[in-house]
Parts: sequence; C-alpha cells; structure tokens
Amino acid sequence: MSSPVISRRGLIKCAGAGLAAGAFPSSAVPNFRSAGSPVAISSANGLATVTHAVQRMTEDNLRPVSAAVEGVGIVEADPADRSVGLGGLPDEDGKVTLDAACMDGPTHNAGSVAAIQDILHPAQVAELVMDRTDHVNLVADGARRFALDHGFEATDLLTESTRKIWLKWRSRRTDDDRLWPLDDKEPVDSALQGEARPWGTIHCSALSPEGSLGCCTTTSGLAFKIPGRIGDSPLIGCGLYCDDGIGSAGATGRGEAAILSGGSWLVVERMRAGDTPEEACLHALRRVGEQAYKGSKWQPALWEDDRPSFGLTFYAVRKDGLYGSASMFGKPKFAVADGAGARLENCAIAFPS
Ligand code: GLY
Repeated sequence: MSSPVISRRGLIKCAGAGLAAGAFPSSAVPNFRSAGSPVAISSANGLATVTHAVQRMTEDNLRPVSAAVEGVGIVEADPADRSVGLGGLPDEDGKVTLDAACMDGPTHNAGSVAAIQDILHPAQVAELVMDRTDHVNLVADGARRFALDHGFEATDLLTESTRKIWLKWRSRRTDDDRLWPLDDKEPVDSALQGEARPWGTIHCSALSPEGSLGCCTTTSGLAFKIPGRIGDSPLIGCGLYCDDGIGSAGATGRGEAAILSGGSWLVVERMRAGDTPEEACLHALRRVGEQAYKGSKWQPALWEDDRPSFGLTFYAVRKDGLYGSASMFGKPKFAVADGAGARLENCAIAFPS
C-alpha cells in the first residue's frame, strides 16, 4: 500500500515543489513517489472520482482541491449511492440534508456547507464558500440561499427508492430512536450490507504533479438522523484536513467518532511526526478505540472483546506521494489513482477479529 520508490531526481523535484527542509523527520523520508506523479485517494465508492481527479490535475493543471471537488461530484450525482448527494438517505423527517467541505493546501483555506437541502453538488458550494467569502462554514438555509444566489438550481434529492426505504424505516421505528445502533439489526435495504443504520460518505485527497495538496469530503450523513444533525464531513480537522507541507487526510464512517477524535487533523499531525500515511490512519483509529467506552451514550460502542463496534476509515496521502488507508475492521478497500492508473487496494485494519 505504498507508492514506488522515487529517484534522486524526483526527490529534488519534490523539494523544489515546496517540501520544506525539516517537513518530515529523516526517518520518514525513504519511500518517495515517482517524480511528478499525481495521486488521488478516496473511499471505495470513488474509483471514478480518483480517475477524474488525476486526469484533471495532469491534463488541465487543475488545482488539487478543485480536482477533488469535481471528482466527488460524480458520486454526488449518482442516485445509486445512498450515502452522498442525489439518492442519499434522508433524515427522520424524510428530508435529504447534505454536508460537504473542501480544503486547499497552498492557501490553507477551507469552505463548508452543512445540513444544506435541495443542492445536488454541495462540495461545489463549499468551494465557493472557500473562494468567495472569508467564512469557512455555512449551514442549513443560509447555505442553501448562498448556493441559489450563485446559480445552483434547487433539486429534489429524495428518489423514489430512498423514499420507500425511509417509509419502511419509519414504519419500524421505536419511541426512542435516538440511539445507535437500533435494536433492529435487519437492514432497511439489501444494498446497505446488513447495517441497521448506515453511514457512507466520500472523501478524496489529491496531490498534484507539482506537489500541492487539496481535499474534499461530501455526504448525506447518517441515515434517518435527527433533523439538524451534522457529522464530521463539513468540519475541518474531523472529516478532512490538509497541510500543504505535510499531507492530506479524510474520514468516512461514524462521524461522531471522527469529530470526538479530531481524526483527520490527527492523521496529518502523525504524518508530520514521521508516520507513514497508513501508520497515521491506524494511530487515529486506535485513539478512537481508546476513546470509545462501555456505557457510552451510543452504547454499544464496544463489542464484548473491547473492539469498537462501529465503522470508521481514514485515508491519507503524504506530500511525497506515499498514501495509505486504515479501517476499524472487516475487509474494506479504498480507491487510489496515480501514474500507474486507478485501482482498489485493501485498507489496513486497526482491530482485526
Ligand atoms: N461520516 C459521515 C457522517 O457521519 O455524517
């Protein structure tokens, strides 16, 4: 799960592109990428996303953050993905509310929208917040009005299929449905892979041929959430973070855990301290594991053997092109594209069974 070794020439090119002396401890340097090879990493639903991002950075010199925003737009517009954009599962009132954010490495600027309704491409709105305002976060109706003012069209994001799933969930809900997971483990839809109440999301971190970074995360959030709930995806440092001198990271899965751990910031800081991207992701997941406890309000946070019972995955790419991903358990994959093409690779696992 690492990029090929770089030549000395490539190392010099990386340094010339802004890899400041001292950005990594000397122990962290050896696995450099092929000179000038772009990299994009994403959740497994992002194979087309990373392909697009790398193509746009390579052929059109698009900045990484914009390449990531464009790339995730493919999934935002896909009605078959139940965790993002059109066709994302709604809140408990049947409203699809979206969270998205992006961050630009070279300017260390960011933008986000949270709990926005009726807008197909919230990540593009987040990019506008970043580029056209001095704010970072816009929420709910303010975010929606900002999008409409900038020419986005109102779109009904609840599909016939997700409306049926929501109605099925509603017919089963108990009086107190605030806790996760539901007692009822039967999935509301066979596409949801056995999860009673799934999280999804897409994250994309991108590294340009010149060595600059950008990232984006976009989601419809926790299915059937309480109206107004926002997850980690629109929160800088939680669902995404990048530092142009170090690397870029993001999260998918249980947003509350990425928020409570400051997960994406932690991954980047671990890379700063010398971890490889995969080691940094594993470190953040183990930290989350330490923070979960029996008796938590979202009990059961832990299985009987003290492993976390919820899913969370981190993705990271380092300034030198090394990349990696780690997940709590199971056999998940992540998507990556670079000079060698696009593919799915296995995530490292923090808490194997
Ligand atoms: N990670 C997405 C969410 O929890 O909303």
